[in-house]
Amino acid sequence: ATTPDLAGRHVVVSAGGTREPLDPVRFLGNRSSGKQGYALARAAVARGARVTLVSANSELPDPAGADVVKVGTAVQLREAVLKAAADADAVVMAAAVADFRPARYVTGKIKKRDGVEPEPIALVRNPDILAEISAERARPGQVVVGFAAETDDVLANGRAKLARKGCDLLVVNEVGERKTFGAAESEAVVLAADGTETPVPYGPKEALADTVWDLVLPRLA
Ligand code: C5P
Repeated sequence: ATTPDLAGRHVVVSAGGTREPLDPVRFLGNRSSGKQGYALARAAVARGARVTLVSANSELPDPAGADVVKVGTAVQLREAVLKAAADADAVVMAAAVADFRPARYVTGKIKKRDGVEPEPIALVRNPDILAEISAERARPGQVVVGFAAETDDVLANGRAKLARKGCDLLVVNEVGERKTFGAAESEAVVLAADGTETPVPYGPKEALADTVWDLVLPRLA
């Protein structure tokens, strides 16, 4: 049986990928399946935590025992995560949040017209939720974890990102054509703000989830 080492703790996990609407039928999205975030939520429930899972556009079944809040866009995800984080011991941002959203939402379906070139899509920045939570720490000693998918210079980019975001732990995945997104398995390195690096060998996302909670545990207030 699993040790209930997160009993009495409230943890927030974001999962999936945001969709940023262009018009009523189209969006800018990404290939995140939600598998890693859902595995984190299930592992935390198994370890005795109260779990709020903020889920963006995942088709996975709700983890038993977790409070699931469904969202669509980055702005909605921010609202839900900030609300849940108010009394959380730890926040894990596993969701793939769109960095940009269309500057304009077109209320009627965008149409093609003969002889008329399409308008370019103007983008604006989304709020960086991870950076905001890390800077604010709704509760003293709250542990904040981010994820980063990198295609090159994985460790150097990961270290820079950890510092930039201000989180305690950053799980760095190397991504490529067939790696990580949508897959059941992944390989990662967990970078900590105190300088430690924990390599996680190629394996199921459940194993990475437990390693993340193992690293969160000693850092909890
Ligand atoms: O900057 P980048 O998107 O690579 O960082 C990834 C990490 O930051 C993930 O933990 C993701 O959930 C989080 N993020 C965020 N808000 C954004 C973009 C990413 O919280 N607008």
